[in-house]
Formats: sequence, structure tokens, C-alpha cells
Amino acid sequence: LRILVCVSGGGTNLQAVMDAIRDGRITNTEIVGVISNNKNAYALTRAGQSGIDAVCLSPRDFPDRAAFNQAFLDKVDSYSPDLIVLAGFLVTIPAAMIENYRNRIINIHPSLIPSFCGVGFYGLKVHEAALARGVKVTGATVHFVDEGTDTGPILLQKSVEVLEDDTPESLQLRVMEEAEWQILPRAIDLIANGKVSVTDGKVRYK
Ligand code: GRF
Repeated sequence: LRILVCVSGGGTNLQAVMDAIRDGRITNTEIVGVISNNKNAYALTRAGQSGIDAVCLSPRDFPDRAAFNQAFLDKVDSYSPDLIVLAGFLVTIPAAMIENYRNRIINIHPSLIPSFCGVGFYGLKVHEAALARGVKVTGATVHFVDEGTDTGPILLQKSVEVLEDDTPESLQLRVMEEAEWQILPRAIDLIANGKVSVTDGKVRYK
């Protein structure tokens, strides 16, 4: 499976995928490229250290969003990916790309969707909202990407206990360690080995 990973930040989810491929927990898979919208993303450094083609493409480099969207889609197509993995990617995916890659784009979100998701719920804000609501359990979700924000068919979820003395930072780290870095590699391995299909907006395991 040729996977293209889109990132914006530290790249710890990218690292988890790279490590899982190296350790054989993801089979039949190759990361063919990494695209970031943030030239300072440490994720680009992680990719470079592993000899993976890594590029930066930012909406700021274009006169308008339509121009970026076209350049982004052309760049994505140039890798001929079988699967696009959004790993902490904070740019809205163009509608044309959703259409062209229907059920071939997955996203990792740091909550149990449908809680604490949608526009504005990203990064620490997700965990601040969970703590503000006082939930006792949170977690992470891998879902296929559709036209909405965090609304596509759910592929995997993993729960994480919220502790009384949690801060947004401590909760974010535990959700990453105990959930995100586990279910994102597992989701990719399932797809790479033909174990999932999407029917009527629901994921089925073969
Ligand atoms: C984190 O908030 C993570 O929960 C979410 O994206 C952000 C950056 O993750 N998935 P990463 O370290 O860049 O993978």
C-alpha cells in the first residue's frame, strides 16, 4: 500500500507509523511521501531522517485558496497514493480531493467521535473541552474523511481514562501514547491487508 502522510506539527503520529512499518506491525506498506503546510513542522525532520520524500506546501504560498487547492491536489496525485493519512493535518481538504480519493483518506482525531470534534476542535482544545465537560473517559478515533469535519465513517476507536489531576497537556500525551499511536498504525495495517470495507457509510471488517 502506497501511503502519503499529511502533517502540520510534531509528527508523533507519523513517527508511530514509521516505527510500526519498521517493526512489521504494519505490513505491505510504504510511505511514499510526507506533505506539511508548516515548514517548521518537526514531522518534516522525522521524514527526512528516514529518507522519505518530504515537502512543504502552504496556503500562504498561493494568491488564493483555489490556487493552493489545485497545487495541493496535483502534488498529492504525483505520489499516486493508495491511501492518504491525515496525521495532525490542520488544513481543510479540498472537495475535489475528497471526491477523487473517496474512502481512501483517513484522519486521526484525539477524542471519541462524536464527542469534542468538528470545526475548532483540534490539538489541546479537544482535551480542554473534555476536561471542562468532566468526562471520565476520552480517547481517539480513526475515521475515513468525507466532506464534513470529523464526520466520515469510523474505522477504529480506543478509550483512555481521564485522571482527576489531568491537565490538557497530560491528557493529550496519554491519549497519544495509549490511543493515537496504537490505532493509527493498526488502521493502516487493516487497510493494507484488505480487512476493511465501507458500506452505507459504515465500516465493515472482512
Ligand atoms: C495532536 O493534537 C494529535 O492529537 C492530533 O494531531 C496533533 C499533532 O499530532 N492527531 P502529531 O504529533 O503532529 O502527530
